[in-house]
Amino acid sequence: MWDEVKRLSQAAGSRRIEDLFENDNRAAEFSLNSVGLLFDYSKTQLDEQSRAALVRIAQDADVEGRRDAMFGGEPINETEGRAVLHTALRNLDGGPVLVGGKDVMPGVRDTLDRMAKLAEHIRGSTVTDVVNIGIGGSDLGPAMAYKALGPYVDGPRCHFVSNVDGADIADTLRGLDPETTLFIVASKTFTTIETMTNARTAKAWLDDKGVSHEDRFVALSSNKEKAAEWGIPDARVFGFGDWVGGRYSMWGPIGLALMIAIGDKAFRAFLRGAQEMDRHFRAAPLHQNMPVLLALVGMWHNQVQGHATRAVLPYDDRLARLPAYLQQLEMESNGKGVSMDGKDLEVHSGPVVWGEPGTNGQHAFYQLIHQGTRTVPCEFMVAATGHEPDLGHHHDLLVANCLAQSEALMRGRSLEEARAICAEKGFEGDELERQARHRVFPGNRPSTTLIYPQLTPETFGKIVALYEHRVFVEGVILNINSFDQWGVELGKELAKSLEDVVTGEAPSTGKDGSTRQLVDYVLLYRSG
Ligand code: F6P
Repeated sequence: MWDEVKRLSQAAGSRRIEDLFENDNRAAEFSLNSVGLLFDYSKTQLDEQSRAALVRIAQDADVEGRRDAMFGGEPINETEGRAVLHTALRNLDGGPVLVGGKDVMPGVRDTLDRMAKLAEHIRGSTVTDVVNIGIGGSDLGPAMAYKALGPYVDGPRCHFVSNVDGADIADTLRGLDPETTLFIVASKTFTTIETMTNARTAKAWLDDKGVSHEDRFVALSSNKEKAAEWGIPDARVFGFGDWVGGRYSMWGPIGLALMIAIGDKAFRAFLRGAQEMDRHFRAAPLHQNMPVLLALVGMWHNQVQGHATRAVLPYDDRLARLPAYLQQLEMESNGKGVSMDGKDLEVHSGPVVWGEPGTNGQHAFYQLIHQGTRTVPCEFMVAATGHEPDLGHHHDLLVANCLAQSEALMRGRSLEEARAICAEKGFEGDELERQARHRVFPGNRPSTTLIYPQLTPETFGKIVALYEHRVFVEGVILNINSFDQWGVELGKELAKSLEDVVTGEAPSTGKDGSTRQLVDYVLLYRSG
């Protein structure tokens, strides 16, 4: 499958990306302007042949067939026997969506309306603070979105507690008024240890302050029974089907904190944006399909050129949590070593995804990106305009920096140029040579840029859906199940078995020497 494209990559050898721009149309030919977003992948080593070969890989993997199977409600999450239909949550004005022959849309609409009703009630009440208690997909999405859509927040303040480390909830509760705080317990399973522990602590906090917790809790979960057991009445439980994966769930009840913060109208605009991307993904031919191209460019770097990591660099401070969100979305979805048919993967799993907003990253890790020995493909993102018209100059600087970085990565600086700079500074002879070497940038480092008009709810919805579908395409091509996460189980089981050991109630016998030593240290320290 990969032979042809690897051969093309080798044949290209050390071809400089810059030279590809001898074709005056390269920028337009290696970009896609669709759904109001411009995805520019011209600053990569891809040429027409290699791109065509990648598109053939997507065709051969039957990306279109699998995509239609997903939207058609087939149980494509095969290890769990589930459909994958988070797209139904944003199918606002679309047709029926069938799961096992039953249309799920009436239920989706009904839940959305119930959410809107509660959100409006809370926005008009004395509630000043909402604390979302959840982790992973029940935290990262709404937390990211709350920050991303800051300019649209006109409701209560939202806080997000996820870590089982008591520091998280303690720091959050400090300064909150129990009389005006609402807790949302967000957990698809309603069994996740971190979330249930934090929820219990929140309950104890209210008790401690003498405030009844009767109407202080809302549950977002697929497990209504567990929520009821926990004492949250049905009317305050917002459910969703098992066909919504945790890391794909922010479009439904898990997005409640966001809806309370920005209101129903803006929340629906966010859904509409995502729906627009869904429509594009379903209809556009592979070679003009943004999620497909995003995935193929990523796979070119990871599978073909062997770059094990990818940096996501939003020049948009409000997207500060996007890299963390993508870490779960991409690495929990495509970090698998076994194919659908239970065989070892013959290629690599998805890459390590990491990043920070620009320009902050420039003053931290960009040194390595520019001059380190390994290539890190970079994914830049920037809005044409910000939300601070009075601070327009800030945005000009932001955009200029974003464009400068991709240009610098591609062009680099030759030894000749570095020598000229050093000569101007007055260096001479051997010292000039030595100084010049430090100022050389190899260049030829690939990057892509996603540019969008402004980070509105609609645009933000498009961007997140774009990344979701990218993950799907990559998963199909890798022939893995992007919708399970068995790899997180072992650690959970072992943590359970260690709970009594770290309190000293159970012996550490049977554990390895390193674990025993670490336990001993904890116990010794605690015994004073
Ligand atoms: O442990 C991983 C995971 O299952 C994620 O996939 C999920 O988003 C997270 O835990 C939280 O799960 P829940 O929403 O059921 O509490």
